[in-house]
Amino acid sequence: MIYETHTHFDDKAFDEDRKEAIKRAISAGIGRFVNIGASMKSSSTSLELAHRYPEFLAAVGVHPEDCAELTEDDMDTLRGYAKDEKVVAIGEIGLDYYWDEPERDIQKKWFARQIKLACEVDLPIIVHSRDAAADTLEILKKEDAGRVGGIIHCFSYSPEVARECLDMGFYIGVGGVVTFKNGRKLKEVVEMTPIDRIVTETDSPYMAPVPYRGKRNSSEYLPYVVEEIARIKGMPPKEVEEITWANAVKLFGK
Ligand code: NI
Repeated sequence: MIYETHTHFDDKAFDEDRKEAIKRAISAGIGRFVNIGASMKSSSTSLELAHRYPEFLAAVGVHPEDCAELTEDDMDTLRGYAKDEKVVAIGEIGLDYYWDEPERDIQKKWFARQIKLACEVDLPIIVHSRDAAADTLEILKKEDAGRVGGIIHCFSYSPEVARECLDMGFYIGVGGVVTFKNGRKLKEVVEMTPIDRIVTETDSPYMAPVPYRGKRNSSEYLPYVVEEIARIKGMPPKEVEEITWANAVKLFGK
């Protein structure tokens, strides 16, 4: 079975057919799903989904784009959610300098603050980092985030940056981009990363793999990602499935 480490089934893109889409993904061989929070609201809806479906777990946290209005009360709320046995990570949290909003100091502040929270509740982190490699590495080191570890999700940086993340104990999250013709950089990262440090993800409804590129993504397309990793690594897809499953279980504890 395939372990989906990053999906957003609570997203409005699934409002019309959520139940059916989840059913199709389970039929496609996805055995476990981590539904990822990106705002205070989606942290709560992720938790709801995790309680509705036995195959689902949740991550709670606030994405950089949504952190402008955060307060310490919100941190208390997240801390409360983190006590739930279905919550396995804090995320997604990080820095996004592609959209570059809110201003960088605010993003950095809440990234560091949520890493502190993760260390306090002893849960791994799910890191979203776009066009912000240097600051991301700096904050991860300064906050000693390697204590809890986690996933650098939708990894988009060079093999050199991957090396630093691996050295800190992080896993590399590989999704649909690895199937793109212009996904050469990620293919290189997959090549150099030991298979026992890779986890599979879709980030659905975003980032659909080939042959669905540009369409709504769903966890049911995860086998395309597994196949491409298998091709790059020169191993059977079944073996990729088993090892990446074990990696996620090791990280999340379930
Ligand atoms: Ni995401």
